[in-house]
Amino acid sequence: MSTLSIEGLKVSIGGHDILRGVDLSLAQGRVHGLAGESGSGKTMTGLATLGLLPHGARVSGRIALGDRELLGLPPRELNRVRGREIAMVFQDPATSLHPMLTVGRQITEHMRHHLRLGRTEAHSRAVDLLTQVRIPSPADAARRYPHQFSGGMRQRIAIAVALACGPRVLIADEPTTALDVTVQAGVLRLLRRLCDELGLAVLLVTHDLGVMSAVADEVSVMRDGLVVETGPRARVLREPGHPYTRALLDALPREDTRPQEGP
Ligand SMILES: Nc1ncnc2c1ncn2[C@@H]1O[C@H](COP(=O)(O)OP(=O)(O)OP(=O)(O)O)[C@@H](O)[C@H]1O
Ligand SMILES: [Mg+2]
Repeated sequence: MSTLSIEGLKVSIGGHDILRGVDLSLAQGRVHGLAGESGSGKTMTGLATLGLLPHGARVSGRIALGDRELLGLPPRELNRVRGREIAMVFQDPATSLHPMLTVGRQITEHMRHHLRLGRTEAHSRAVDLLTQVRIPSPADAARRYPHQFSGGMRQRIAIAVALACGPRVLIADEPTTALDVTVQAGVLRLLRRLCDELGLAVLLVTHDLGVMSAVADEVSVMRDGLVVETGPRARVLREPGHPYTRALLDALPREDTRPQEGP
């Protein structure tokens, strides 16, 4: 059974149809890559899943976490789901990190609020999380502020914050786009490892099929508010069924992800 199942998700804002019936299914221990050109609705799909749509957005369809329907949950319950069961990291780690709070505090606040942990236990779990995302000298790092870390390290910290309450689903929206190429691969490998070790269901949003080919198990491609293609990574990237996926692949410089040209 899938962990998160999105069916026929439609979102319209101010009379504009942004999502036109998105179907997407995430499973535990799997990275599902979501690609597609700018404006195709990738971020909106993630925000809708977290119940974070702009005011006045009209939404219909199904978003089920296990056997629980999320669309239409009262705000209080949705807030619990958002804190504890589904988490999101964004392109710019500054979106998730508070500049004035120490790294340790940002992680422990979540655990104290949502899990009702005491100060000491929350602190020790924060240090464990920083270790898990491979921050050097984690106990010392917990006492420092976000600006004292490099961009790649900040994104790792944002991932630790997202994982603070042990979510089942992690939505990573272009998590490496703002990073130096030299650190991008490390953050992707980290997401892959966390997915495997914690059994997370990861939705990895990117417009970059190269990034996708490095870590995703399944790939979906969006265009104009719809998923136009979905399947195992190897199949989608080697034998794309949709002309749009083929066009995206043709724009890629990497040899190994190109459709094969026969024997
Ligand atoms: N707050 C908003 N109000 C109205 N329309 C919006 C809002 N945010 C996004 N849109 C529109 O929704 C559509 C989908 O946007 P979305 O941000 O999901 O695209 P995306 O696939 O994530 O693109 P990118 O690759 O550039 O991040 C776009 O046409 C965008 O203009
Ligand atoms: Mg986006």
